[in-house]
Amino acid sequence: MKKKIVIVGIGYVGLPLAISLSRFYEVIGFDTNVNRVKQLKNFKDINKQILRNKLKESKIKFTNNIKDIRHSSVYIITVPTPVYKKNKPNLSLLKDASKTVAKTMRRKSIIIYESTVYPGLTRFLSKSIIEKISKFKLNKDFLLGYSPERINPGDKKNTLNKIVKIVSGSNEDAVLKIKEIYSKICRKIYVANSLEIAESAKIIENIQRDVNIALVNEFYKIFSELNLNFDEILKAAATKWNFLKFNPGLVGGHCIGVDPYYLLHLTKLKKIKTEMVSSGRNVNDNMHKYVVQRINKFANKLSKNPKNIKILIYGLTYKKDCPDIRNSQSKRISNILDKKYDLTTFDSLIDRSDEKQFPNFKKNYSKNNYDIIFVNHVHTKDGKKYKFEKILNKNGFLYSLENFK
Ligand SMILES: NC(=O)c1ccc[n+]([C@@H]2O[C@H](COP(=O)([O-])OP(=O)(O)OC[C@H]3O[C@@H](n4cnc5c(N)ncnc54)[C@H](O)[C@@H]3O)[C@@H](O)[C@H]2O)c1
Repeated sequence: MKKKIVIVGIGYVGLPLAISLSRFYEVIGFDTNVNRVKQLKNFKDINKQILRNKLKESKIKFTNNIKDIRHSSVYIITVPTPVYKKNKPNLSLLKDASKTVAKTMRRKSIIIYESTVYPGLTRFLSKSIIEKISKFKLNKDFLLGYSPERINPGDKKNTLNKIVKIVSGSNEDAVLKIKEIYSKICRKIYVANSLEIAESAKIIENIQRDVNIALVNEFYKIFSELNLNFDEILKAAATKWNFLKFNPGLVGGHCIGVDPYYLLHLTKLKKIKTEMVSSGRNVNDNMHKYVVQRINKFANKLSKNPKNIKILIYGLTYKKDCPDIRNSQSKRISNILDKKYDLTTFDSLIDRSDEKQFPNFKKNYSKNNYDIIFVNHVHTKDGKKYKFEKILNKNGFLYSLENFK
């Protein structure tokens, strides 16, 4: 009998996974967001990852009805793992998803977590929620796995089928069964020795990026203040065989800017002293302030009433080629500058429903001229058509982080 796989949370991670698996298994995409389910049923993915035709072709059943996912062979949990205001992990979505699975699973179900967690959390959720609600026992009545997701939205090269997929399981049987599932859709599988090793591998991958970007952001600030061209400095340094190529920029989104807080939460609980992880996070989390500071500095030189200084912020999503605006630092910059200047914002990729989150979002932004233009990024689909100089006032300031991308 064909395995029935339920994907719990059909967002950036869950939808491509559901599409890939649906070529081999019966797949149900379960999501608590009624709107998301409705859109997907109408073949619309607002994350712009899966084209309409592909959704039309797929046999995935999208639902928000818990009855549709009862007694399934496999549940893969891909719900968000955000943080609260003070950066404490918000585990409520993971807990809710675990409860949903516990209430609907059957004996011999396999439960796989893909959401990013700190080491130990998968086993904890299984013990404290799944075993308690279902009354089933781990490894006797059901199997557990952790397989971190490595997708990089907007990246057409490192797609799910091409990346090395880490899998892990609660016992040998779990590993074998989970490996078999992912082998269908990923060319390379790496078996981690435990759930905790797999969880830790995922979290350090993202922290390593955060810390490296923080270091280069700090360099960028130093050399900008010294009036030295940092782009040229990076190019020169990159000629050394072991220089690591990282670019300065605004770190946002749902992964790199969030995952370090998950590990920091655990180290705090365990009273393990850390320095680099939080230091990297501090640098990157405050990078938007440096951008604002540079814009203010230039604006002060214009000897104009700030309310008459026209500023354009171009590129609002958290990164190039991705419509995701979660934790976008451009948003923070816009909100600060909007209080003081005549601000216009624009991005060609964000969903219409997100436009209202930015002050004075204007599709026809290019009809005006600006004193200051801050370019966070230009999406690839826009090509090279943007000539910001054309809409920059004489003696205006074009400040771009795009050179580094
Ligand atoms: N976005 C990425 O690039 C990326 C990459 C690697 C790993 N991850 C990790 O994968 C996880 C998911 O991230 P995402 O970006 O896909 O999130 P997302 O917000 O795009 O999608 C998650 C979906 O889960 C749904 N959901 C929330 N609670 C639910 C529940 N209790 N039951 C069912 N559905 C529920 C939401 O409505 C949403 O549609 C996170 O842990 C993230 O850190 C994300």
